Amino acid sequence: MGDAAPALVVLAAGRRLLLGTGNFGKVREMRAALKPLGLELLDLRQLHGARPREPEETGAGFLANAGIKALHYERATGIPSLGEDSGLEVDALDGSPGVRSARWLGKDTPYEEKNHHLIDLVNAGEARGRGARYRSAVAIAVEGRIVFRSTGTVEGRIARAPRGTGGFGYDPVFVPLDLDGRTMAELGLAEKQAISHRGRALDPVRRFFAGLPGELDGVSG
Ligand code: IMP
Repeated sequence: MGDAAPALVVLAAGRRLLLGTGNFGKVREMRAALKPLGLELLDLRQLHGARPREPEETGAGFLANAGIKALHYERATGIPSLGEDSGLEVDALDGSPGVRSARWLGKDTPYEEKNHHLIDLVNAGEARGRGARYRSAVAIAVEGRIVFRSTGTVEGRIARAPRGTGGFGYDPVFVPLDLDGRTMAELGLAEKQAISHRGRALDPVRRFFAGLPGELDGVSG
């Protein structure tokens, strides 16, 4: 690992990871995915003192923004930090909202409204199909450097009407391909995790921790 080796030793010895996101739907999924590692997983609600502000997402893509988040929270807290950036790409909208998924139609606009509007737009552009995908990118920062990156994708289509109350965000209108037609919001946490973009991006994180120098109890390949 070259120059990254000392940072990896710090990561292995500290056994702590900050989940650097203010989206607690994501936190729930990250905790479930990373629990087998036996690390101390912290989220922003558990920090003493003022919670760091969210960084500007100025990167050109998901991986760049995941790195910005990981470095931002690691610098602000001194705790090894995981950043994740994700979004929904809709074919009929030329890949929008993409990296702007959280901000699309306004950061504080309720998802019920965003999801209905999304369906209207896809219906209007029906000739271009209903295809869509979620993408996720993950980065881990230790001592001011990125030591790990991974990505995950799940293909799907936009439903004709919102369904389900699980998950968060666009889940009620996203139907994963190769399942039984349920929306992401109709899946249980473990079911979503098994096929989701975030679950797929977090899978290699487990293998990464298993390969760190020194022993990490509880790590299963
Ligand atoms: P960011 O990564 O914090 O910039 O925001 C990601 C945004 O993409 C979320 O706020 C949602 O709008 C959307 N998104 C990403 N992953 C999911 C998911 O698993 N379910 C529903 N919406 C998601």
